[in-house]
Amino acid sequence: MVAIVTGAGSRAPGVGNGRAAAILFAREGARVLLVDSVAEWADQTLGMIADEHGEASVVEADVTRAQDCQRIVDEAVRRYGRIDILHNNVGIGGNGSVVDIDLEAWDQIMQVNVKSMMLMARHVIPVMAANGGGAITNVSSISSIRPRGLTPYTTSKGAVNALTIAMAVDHAAQGIRVNAILPGPVYTPGVASAGMTPEQRATRARSSLLGTEGTAWDVGWAAVYLASPEARWVTGQLLCVDGGVSLTSAARSVGDEPRR
Ligand SMILES: NC(=O)c1ccc[n+]([C@@H]2O[C@H](COP(=O)([O-])OP(=O)(O)OC[C@H]3O[C@@H](n4cnc5c(N)ncnc54)[C@H](O)[C@@H]3O)[C@@H](O)[C@H]2O)c1
Repeated sequence: MVAIVTGAGSRAPGVGNGRAAAILFAREGARVLLVDSVAEWADQTLGMIADEHGEASVVEADVTRAQDCQRIVDEAVRRYGRIDILHNNVGIGGNGSVVDIDLEAWDQIMQVNVKSMMLMARHVIPVMAANGGGAITNVSSISSIRPRGLTPYTTSKGAVNALTIAMAVDHAAQGIRVNAILPGPVYTPGVASAGMTPEQRATRARSSLLGTEGTAWDVGWAAVYLASPEARWVTGQLLCVDGGVSLTSAARSVGDEPRR
């Protein structure tokens, strides 16, 4: 199995969603292409995989650029000969309402969170199809179905959900399954680096039915399942990995920090 993970680094020490998925794919025996716009952050993931005797390598690329996406796919084929799994993990946050959002920030969020997933899929699908199929997983967010003060982010992740089901329909006949993971508020380096008080963190944990905080590993295990042969009859699904946050009333999370 060969997997491409976008955003396979983490912007601060620790384990983010892309890093966790990459490490778990490698533990399951996949050869993993680690893509990040900051090579140093992907190199750290590479070191963690190498420490466990897994197989991986890094491509520094910006997945908002079509030519970079083509280069990623070319490198995957050159290094490993095939592509079985595309884990579209790159995403950035975006606060505010339509009244106060900065217009350039709006465009950037759509580019990074939506266009990048379309571009990666566009270049990967012909290779997957030529091998008889594969699995694509897009990392969305429960913000897509449960908005709270992050309208640009919510809109972008709503588009990711729509892209996921549209791609599942378009490419099923090629043997390609397409699903999305909707993580709840997991505590990743990306979230930590944006700053969060212990009280905010505790409120965030309490906002889930289970009353505990999620981690990137929780999201990573969902990625392993969706990409595995055990999920061979699962496509077009939007899987919440959120400790039940999406089943609580909106009022319960008022005061929760408005970050992803
Ligand atoms: N952390 C959460 O609570 C949470 C909740 C729901 C969804 N998510 C989603 O999970 C995904 C990962 O989140 P995270 O918090 O682990 O992220 P993170 O910020 O820690 O890591 C993302 C990585 O993506 C890379 N990256 C960013 N833009 C890129 C680009 N254009 N090209 C290539 N690489 C790029 C960064 O350099 C970074 O290494 C995102 O899609 C995010 O929206 C996170």
